[in-house]
Amino acid sequence: MKKNIAILPGDGIGPEIIQEAVKVLDAVAKAYDHEFDYTYEDMGAIAIDKTGNPLPEATLKASLESDAVLFGAIGDPKYDNDPNAKVRPEQGLLAIRKALGLFCNIRPVKTFDALLHQSPLKEERVKGTDFEMYRELTGGIYFGEKKLSDDKNTASDLCQYTKAEIERIAHKAFAAARKRRNVLTLVDKANVLESSRLWRRVVTAMHQETYSDVELRYLFVDNAAMQMILAPNQFDVMLTSNLFGDIISDEGSVIGGSIGLLPSASIGETHALFEPIHGSFPQGAGKGIANPIAMILSAAMMLTHFDMDKEATAVRAAVDLALAKGVCTPEVFPENKYTTSDVGDFIANNIA
Ligand code: IPM
Ligand code: MG
Repeated sequence: MKKNIAILPGDGIGPEIIQEAVKVLDAVAKAYDHEFDYTYEDMGAIAIDKTGNPLPEATLKASLESDAVLFGAIGDPKYDNDPNAKVRPEQGLLAIRKALGLFCNIRPVKTFDALLHQSPLKEERVKGTDFEMYRELTGGIYFGEKKLSDDKNTASDLCQYTKAEIERIAHKAFAAARKRRNVLTLVDKANVLESSRLWRRVVTAMHQETYSDVELRYLFVDNAAMQMILAPNQFDVMLTSNLFGDIISDEGSVIGGSIGLLPSASIGETHALFEPIHGSFPQGAGKGIANPIAMILSAAMMLTHFDMDKEATAVRAAVDLALAKGVCTPEVFPENKYTTSDVGDFIANNIA
């Protein structure tokens, strides 16, 4: 199969980790006789530095024309602490999500047996944790009307959802639950927010009409945040809105012991983008210490999206082997001294 992939390395450690993902994709192409064509473009702080725009025209064009986008990381400390900055790297990411219609963000949270001791939680609590977060990505408070009064003393962000926006992601979440352990947990704040009550009504109606074979549970987001620490292994598929998903997916990301291990997929009707869930880790850039595994597993999610299931399985197996053999960066195995590119080499060399 031939696929066009837009590669957006982005900021900080993005370029280093994406290089390892490309290494692994090249090994997959060779082993399974595919052709991957890459188009490299800038996004984020690097794009602002070069063009003034965090999502330049050429980047958007290449992404719209691609079969999938592989994206590294975004963000630079020079923008983080300046509330008056007019352009920000993150605007590039939000704009590409909107422009490509990527309404469904999937973030798997999984523990690796070899790394249970690394978790900030007790091993017996995290063992067996394996769930997927379905986060709505192009609506809600992120994209609602923003207001700042003329005297700059009052501000608001509107959280608005339509039935159609809820339904399209809920369909995907119910379908995912059916392929897994058949439990869907809707996370909201329906005791307080009108928009959350709409989520409940819409999802409950879909459950009754189409998905009554799936067990549907409801959880308020504050309780969900607590349950994820107390017993993360109770979850199968979680479904939630944009902001709640942003917050609890960061919480989920540390359960397994390293944020450097978790990939994500952002899917729309016609486009898809794959990125690690961690940030640009600017303090680690250029030192060869960035963990490329979340990026490589994001590439594996892209292969699944291309219906290349055995290829994706081969990548995941090579990652499991690396972790089992202690081949990982210092935040996971401090004594083993493997660099970013050592880890990529090992995984690429073990694609069966
Ligand atoms: C994420 C990030 C983004 C978000 C930022 C970088 C805009 O935190 O993908 O979770 O808030 O969605
Ligand atoms: Mg986030």
